[in-house]
Amino acid sequence: MQKEWPLLLLGWYDENKRQLPWREQTDAYRTWVSEVMLQQTRVEAVKDYYRRFLERFPAIENLAAATEEEVLQQWQGLGYYSRARNLWQGAKETVAQYGGEVPKDEKSLRALPGVGEYTAGAILSIAYQQAVPAVDGNVLRVFSRLYGLQEEVQTTAAKKMVAKLVSDVLPAKRPGDFNQALMDFGAAICIPETPRCEGCPVTAYCLARLQGQERILPVRKPKKPPTCIHVAVGLAKGADGYLLEKRPARGLLAGMWQFVSAEAASENEAAKLLSERGLQLLQPAFPLWRVSHVFSHRRWEMAIYECAPVKDLPKSGGLAVREEALATVLWAGPHQKIFEWLEKNKKDEK
Ligand code: ADE
Repeated sequence: MQKEWPLLLLGWYDENKRQLPWREQTDAYRTWVSEVMLQQTRVEAVKDYYRRFLERFPAIENLAAATEEEVLQQWQGLGYYSRARNLWQGAKETVAQYGGEVPKDEKSLRALPGVGEYTAGAILSIAYQQAVPAVDGNVLRVFSRLYGLQEEVQTTAAKKMVAKLVSDVLPAKRPGDFNQALMDFGAAICIPETPRCEGCPVTAYCLARLQGQERILPVRKPKKPPTCIHVAVGLAKGADGYLLEKRPARGLLAGMWQFVSAEAASENEAAKLLSERGLQLLQPAFPLWRVSHVFSHRRWEMAIYECAPVKDLPKSGGLAVREEALATVLWAGPHQKIFEWLEKNKKDEK
């Protein structure tokens, strides 16, 4: 069984593979950029970011020479910004330690910031044609169905087991294509919940299908719902424009800008904390607007308050930004929504 299906899958890939910008040139730097962008982000959302990023930083030396602000600016809207910081740090290390040549061995690659087992496997197989697995969520799903795995797939043990199974069947001549074939196959045919078995080139080899388990596998632990955090957001103007502050250098949305805010377990408590930060909420019981934003583990319920103009900047540090300049701010994502809402309201008022 083991010998035939990988070749059938490669045949399917040759006929059906997606035309994607990172498949046009598969050098290690480009592969690295695309694989980092594709973590936790859909292919469609990544395409334009990838093109723009490579226009701005065509070679690893350009990325290494950029400032953090420039890199984050290119990443704005993609989310999970520590990915961008790690990629940038990794580019700097690669230039400093390896003359700009991305390492070809797993150990050195994985020593670079943000390069885990998956990313290393993708770079080694796609850019350097090494027979190394790249196990992402798609691959876990495909293998758990093909092999009828009854273990919960998100565990370290199951990931190890799947990596071993992939290694055992990886066609030595086309490892990068095989890994990408698994990704495309997982995105088009062996999809979550309702696999399209009628179009599957390897259905005859699929244990889940043979056992009527194709909709049951992979086994997953139910996800915990994201924790809800209430955020009170103050729209306060100083002499020079809206008051903004920079988020802390570590943690969620690190180093990005937001309207002055306070976080708490309830809306009232958050509003109270915001006023304790020195803002005067004009109507604390009546936010101007409410909006939510869902992260992977957290949900922000934001209430936006009109505040009295202020003379001093917040003690914790901040900046007053003229309205014309708000569009160029490196926003923490949810606050960009607020900025866009402000802009829209301004237009509607006209
Ligand atoms: N998802 C992650 N890496 C990918 C790739 N190289 N092609 C398509 N989808 C992917």
